[in-house]
Amino acid sequence: MRGESLINSIVARSLDEIRFWSRIMKEHALFLSLGFTYEQKQLIDEANQFITIFERIEEKLTRYTVNSDIRQIQAFNAEVYQAAVAIWNYKRKVLGLTLRCEIRSNNYPLLIDHISREAAYFANRLKELNEGKLAPEPDAIIEENVFFLRIMADHAKFIGHLLDPSERKLVAQAREFSHDFDQLLFQAVDLDSMQPQSETIPLLDQFLDQNRVSVTSLRDFKKTARELIEECRIKSNIHPLLADHTFREAERFLEIIDLFEASLKKA
Ligand SMILES: [Fe+2]
Ligand SMILES: [Fe+2]
Repeated sequence: MRGESLINSIVARSLDEIRFWSRIMKEHALFLSLGFTYEQKQLIDEANQFITIFERIEEKLTRYTVNSDIRQIQAFNAEVYQAAVAIWNYKRKVLGLTLRCEIRSNNYPLLIDHISREAAYFANRLKELNEGKLAPEPDAIIEENVFFLRIMADHAKFIGHLLDPSERKLVAQAREFSHDFDQLLFQAVDLDSMQPQSETIPLLDQFLDQNRVSVTSLRDFKKTARELIEECRIKSNIHPLLADHTFREAERFLEIIDLFEASLKKA
């Protein structure tokens, strides 16, 4: 890629990552706050502070466009990076309190770990963009899929465990998705350990195709669940925003799969 178009792409990609993940981070803080009990006021206050921090970032984002100066974007990336690291620290603190049984809340430990992984991913993306890394390398394709497949497998488990146990059909469907994604994740881990020899275009292409099929059907399942929850047609402990949140993350994974597919075609 020529110098100028790489810079433009870095600016556009930075704004896109911040737009997507800042909203996600804000919602994580909301979900955590809703899961705490009334006496965990300090932790609720901290969660609310993160909601404000990411709302401010979303406001600031509107000042920039794809034509903004790269130096301004790099400074903004660095600022958002600090916020992502701060919320990661907070989530890990809450995980520690939970695992040591110093607090009891309605947030599953795996959910807290999951959202901290998403914060780490976001922080890392910003760091990479500021180092000028945009194009996905073949080894990054495998790693990125390992990350997202695990996220999808977790989502299936959360949905299964937050649905009312009397919703037997939906619980069984969620369990099937969980199994499907655990299998895909293991396949990805195997491919990962076979690196760099496994980085062939036919293998990566087939890997992406298989992942796309499963993510598309999980995305559709989440979409249906979201509608059923919004219309109060099913019994669950799932906040409608959480249903929408996991749906958007599946859409994001599909977009990334397409991006990788396009980069393989160019290779
Ligand atoms: Fe999330
Ligand atoms: Fe997630």
